[in-house]
Amino acid sequence: MQELQAQLRVFEAEIHSFDPKNAADVEAFRIRFLGTKGIVKQVLGEMKNVPVPQKKEAGQLLNAFKQLAEEKYASCQHLVSEVKMQDNHQDISLPGSDLPLGTRHPLRMIEKSIVGIFEKIGFSVATGPEIEDDWHNFTSLNMPADHPARDMQDTFYVSQNPDWVLRTHTSSVQARIMESSKPPIRVICPGRVYRNETISARAHCFFHQCEGLYIDKQVSFADLKQTLYYFVTEMFGKDTKVRFRPSYFPFTEPSAEMDISCTVCGGSGCNLCKHTGWVEILGCGMVHPNMLRNFNIDPEVYTGFAFGMGVERITQIKYQVNDLRLYSQNDVRFLRQFQNL
Ligand code: DAH
Repeated sequence: MQELQAQLRVFEAEIHSFDPKNAADVEAFRIRFLGTKGIVKQVLGEMKNVPVPQKKEAGQLLNAFKQLAEEKYASCQHLVSEVKMQDNHQDISLPGSDLPLGTRHPLRMIEKSIVGIFEKIGFSVATGPEIEDDWHNFTSLNMPADHPARDMQDTFYVSQNPDWVLRTHTSSVQARIMESSKPPIRVICPGRVYRNETISARAHCFFHQCEGLYIDKQVSFADLKQTLYYFVTEMFGKDTKVRFRPSYFPFTEPSAEMDISCTVCGGSGCNLCKHTGWVEILGCGMVHPNMLRNFNIDPEVYTGFAFGMGVERITQIKYQVNDLRLYSQNDVRFLRQFQNL
């Protein structure tokens, strides 16, 4: 017992005076005292030589000694982590940084919800080319070469004779669908369109539309109204009112424009509705018999409705964006405002 005490006292003195300079010193200490062949283990091995009556006391001595060695080792850990930092130029004990998340573009989000609302009532998505020929963009839509309605849309010509244009509206996709499929037809066609406009807060040379087309036997204007009314309540809420105004488009007869009650002021008058209480959101009508004939669909058997809305317009109403240019400037201060929506 005395031998054990004397031995431990020597080791304790060594531990007290241990003054490591670097991580290697600390590791050497660990191996010497706490390693699998270290002093603590060795002394533990000698316990079997201690007579039974003194075993308890010897055990306590050994425990105290082990604790001393462990505490000293723990108090030197700063040297070990400092070395890790120097080696890797980083502190691996720091929590990780967040992954930066991008945001969806507001126009994409609105396009997705428009499409989703129509998909719920059986419409499927169709797309077409942005570079379009004269037939699909104009002529087949009841707008022959000298038709004055062509002036409504200042066109970018890619080539003349044959005429290739950047499509001025997604109604060209309507034409392509009528050409390639047979009724019943029920499609929603989102896409980018181009017009030769001077860029300003209220006009741009490219923007986005969503076209809808429904052709079947006995499709009526009542179906058109009910479908669009469903869209408005899904998009803007149950309390939103709609009104239809007579209008003119060459590819529909009769034609209408649809307004909704202003979602910002509720009808009392504000900048968005120009103090009228109403905002226009789309053009629509019953597909013109000439257009059906152009695609060999018999207007005596089939009727249909069509509509076209501007995605920027819907987004502007939803989020009160008042400058069209913001959508294509890629300013992250603008785009970040749509995070988490
Ligand atoms: N194409 C028209 C435009 O760009 C919008 C439009 C109006 C589309 C009436 C239609 C429609 O399908 O029936 O102004």
